[in-house]
Amino acid sequence: MRKNIVAGNWKMNTTLDEGVELANELSTMLENRPVNCDVIICVPFTHLVAVRGVIAGSQLQLGAENCSEHDKGAYTGEVSASMVKSTGASHVILGHSERRQYFGENNEQLLAKTRLALANDLKPIFCVGEVLEERENGSYNDVVRGQVEALFELTPEEFSNIVIAYEPVWAIGTGKTATAEQAQDMHAHIRKVISEKYGNDIADNTSILYGGSCKPSNARELFAKPDVDGGLIGGASLKAADFMGIIEAFD
Ligand code: PGA
Repeated sequence: MRKNIVAGNWKMNTTLDEGVELANELSTMLENRPVNCDVIICVPFTHLVAVRGVIAGSQLQLGAENCSEHDKGAYTGEVSASMVKSTGASHVILGHSERRQYFGENNEQLLAKTRLALANDLKPIFCVGEVLEERENGSYNDVVRGQVEALFELTPEEFSNIVIAYEPVWAIGTGKTATAEQAQDMHAHIRKVISEKYGNDIADNTSILYGGSCKPSNARELFAKPDVDGGLIGGASLKAADFMGIIEAFD
């Protein structure tokens, strides 16, 4: 069966010292505490190696927030999937709406990134989600279908390593959460889109996370929905106690 997952997305927050401190706090809080989900923290590239050292032996897994669409070479400033993998990370967020919106990442680039992540044995946390206008004009199901279908050149085996994160853009960092019903409807839609291409087994085994102003006070209701398999957490992942509160929503 598919896994429940709570993943933190630190975005461009924390200095190295602050990040190490936060990781330390989290791994201490998780010590000797059984959790009913996988817990991943996705941190800035600069923090990966140090955070890996801090969380070694804990229940925390490590992820990056992006990787290059290129394998290696003359791409100044870029970080490749193999570099990410070599830090000890197991996951990488791809296609976050901030990358799509501010850095113009398109479906073709995201497929290339996904392929490189998979080739380097990283599990992509692949983000999809509509903007407010698309929610309001009713095109949101088609928009998200298109974003998921961008991955449909993957083989079934490759696709079975993908985690999807549904993050309605209007809910990210706005304090405005999708209702649990809106999340459930979209997650069921995404699972159906996946099953049309890859069949029920793969669709049923794909973890689909909700993201967008998820916090301890709403996580339980969201995660109780049958097709919501956890969360991708931005702001609330920067405070250890809040992140723990969300992890504990799986009890
Ligand atoms: P938020 O961000 O929890 O701060 O809304 C979620 C995300 O962008 O991954």
